[in-house]
Amino acid sequence: MVRPRILVTGATGFLGPYVVAALRGRDAAVVTAARSAGDAAVDLSRPGMVDAVLEALAPDRVVNLVAMAKLGDCERDPARAQHVNATLPADLAARLGERLLHVSTDLVFDGRGAPYDEVAPVEPLSAYGVSKAAGEQAVLGSGGRVVRLPLLFGKDDRGRGASAMITAAVAGGQRLALFTNEYRTPLHAADAAEALAELTLDLGGPRLLHVGGPQRCSRWEFGQQVCAALDLSPALLTPAECQDPLRPRDVSLVTQWPQRRSFAAMLRDA
Ligand SMILES: NC(=O)c1ccc[n+]([C@@H]2O[C@H](COP(=O)([O-])OP(=O)(O)OC[C@H]3O[C@@H](n4cnc5c(N)ncnc54)[C@H](OP(=O)(O)O)[C@@H]3O)[C@@H](O)[C@H]2O)c1
Repeated sequence: MVRPRILVTGATGFLGPYVVAALRGRDAAVVTAARSAGDAAVDLSRPGMVDAVLEALAPDRVVNLVAMAKLGDCERDPARAQHVNATLPADLAARLGERLLHVSTDLVFDGRGAPYDEVAPVEPLSAYGVSKAAGEQAVLGSGGRVVRLPLLFGKDDRGRGASAMITAAVAGGQRLALFTNEYRTPLHAADAAEALAELTLDLGGPRLLHVGGPQRCSRWEFGQQVCAALDLSPALLTPAECQDPLRPRDVSLVTQWPQRRSFAAMLRDA
């Protein structure tokens, strides 16, 4: 088989380097795009930019990780969130169909009906969730494929991700409040990336798939487990109750995707 050429958009984010490594590990030829760096360092939301990048880099397939991913940013500018999280993936899907694998989130659910499988109706609470749900719908409507991911963690040189936030606070001697009533199914970014790489290379895969982590836990329980796995003191972690109406309380995912590592092994690698 000819070596496939895969474009990873949003390659400079937290998940991006993991996905690039996973694809290269499977002998794909990888090209990258993001605003600040990559083979195409451009704002993909600008008019004509999707066409220009697809023409210049000529990928066989695309994994789209571009997102406006901070909840607060999306609340402040919901129109921009819609543009980046829905219009941009819609443009990609219109050109690529099933050759696009688009990444979405468990935050398309409202947290009242967990655990969620792929047939559960979406009911987003936040501007982020609304824009991501619209992106999914547009991608699926054009024959593209969508993978929903949970809270991600893992090493990151810029301190991004759910575990780096905890290890940085502990190392810096700062107190960190973690919610006892916000449940997710956290997954190591390397494991998420392996799944995305495999699905990108297999056009016969499902149209919509949940790839959650092996265990449901609250942010607070997650913090305790990270500290235990890395032999760090949890003394600076404090339990807190989330009162924010925009944050769903339980968006645990049901996942049919086979887990390749135990949660304990993922945490040791956090
Ligand atoms: N992190 C999580 O826990 C998590 C959980 C569930 C789902 N997800 C989903 O997974 C995907 C990746 O998340 P992430 O955590 O890696 O996000 P991230 O760290 O915020 O990275 C976002 C990426 O998108 C790029 N980007 C943003 N706007 C752009 C634009 N207009 N043009 C070109 N590039 C643009 C950024 O480029 P620059 O850095 O160069 O600006 C960056 O590479 C997203 O779809 C997110 O919704 C993430």
